[in-house]
Amino acid sequence: MGQYDFDCVVDRSGTDSLKWERGGDEIPLWVADMDFMAPREVREALIRRASHGVFGYSVIPDRWREAYVSWWQRRHDLELDPAWLVFATGVVPAISSAVRRLTAVGDKVVIQTPVYNIFFNSILNNGRHVLESPLIWRDGQYSMDFDDLERCLADPETTMMILCNPHNPVGRIWSREELARVGSLCRRHGVTVISDEIHCDLTAPGKAYVPFAGVSEDCREISVTCVAPSKTFNLAGLQSAAVFAANSHLRERISRGLNTDEVAEPNAFAVEGAVAAYTWGAEWLDELRSYIQDSRDLVAEFARRHLPGICPVDAEATYLIWLDCSGILDGGSSVPLTAFLRSQAGVRLSSGDSYGTGGRGFLRLNAACPRQILEEGLRRLERGLEMFRCREQELKRQRDQDLA
Ligand SMILES: Cc1ncc(COP(=O)(O)O)c(C=O)c1O
Repeated sequence: MGQYDFDCVVDRSGTDSLKWERGGDEIPLWVADMDFMAPREVREALIRRASHGVFGYSVIPDRWREAYVSWWQRRHDLELDPAWLVFATGVVPAISSAVRRLTAVGDKVVIQTPVYNIFFNSILNNGRHVLESPLIWRDGQYSMDFDDLERCLADPETTMMILCNPHNPVGRIWSREELARVGSLCRRHGVTVISDEIHCDLTAPGKAYVPFAGVSEDCREISVTCVAPSKTFNLAGLQSAAVFAANSHLRERISRGLNTDEVAEPNAFAVEGAVAAYTWGAEWLDELRSYIQDSRDLVAEFARRHLPGICPVDAEATYLIWLDCSGILDGGSSVPLTAFLRSQAGVRLSSGDSYGTGGRGFLRLNAACPRQILEEGLRRLERGLEMFRCREQELKRQRDQDLA
């Protein structure tokens, strides 16, 4: 038994939680936030700030930069210069801002699908085109398709690539070699890389992610990295994130973009939460990583015994479990299945279709909740899948009858 009680169920009703909008009627295993309380030191820092009672405008203090620099040095072996860091109210606002600042309307932006669905919005809502370079899915493993990637990057209209490192939803930690190849290809073709590293701390015990900017000179010079304590410590609602870029020209441009988009100023809690988390959160995080690994193992074992046709993909990072449902859907869309599970079995997962090419036929399950909730979610999933199968068989029987 560790020092922290991740089994403790926290009632989130009455907090306007997006994830729990249906209250207790539904087990929500979809949107990527956790049902765990943030570390005690973070809660105390926020209470202290709230108790002060004056909530005027804030500046970014040096201790905010120091907390990031120290965390990346201790945890990720990356030496950040404090001057490289720029505050942003979120990773998505930063990515959208980077798309607007660093590319032109009509340009193409490369993403490796299946990938975090909001990347599509950041690109399309700003009048740019998505260029998908699908990952290779072979023998239960995902890898980058470098031939296809080079073809996409060589397109003269491609000016940006958004990298997801580690990758949501497939859970890969990209290796130094893979990232170095991405860096050199992008540099050769004049493509800027936005490296979204929001999941970087949530690696399986014993595994470390590789910061893109630390891989090579190519990677450092052509990239803007987006990071945040929000996934790691469950602080998404604080709207606290950072971007860093070693290249001063890129940094100036992204910094101007964040400012003109009005997403560069913190609320009264954003700095306190980040500083407390990066200063005090290491032990809590290491126990959380073990807890998530155990939950991942539990899902795999449950699927093996009780969910025929469903196979969780092996992953090295994130608390998201990517479920291959080809045994049930045979490559078809998982949208009807997700809707069915929600309405008939009271369990909500994300459909893989929204993650782009390669996502059809998959479901995404968020396992970041106390075991008791996860187990109830899995039982509902089992029942829901049985009902779905029966309904599909019945529909097929009726179709066959109509044809006869
Ligand atoms: C890859 C990735 N980037 C960004 C975000 C959201 O970032 P933010 O809440 O800081 O905008 C998520 C949330 O799930 C994510 O998975």
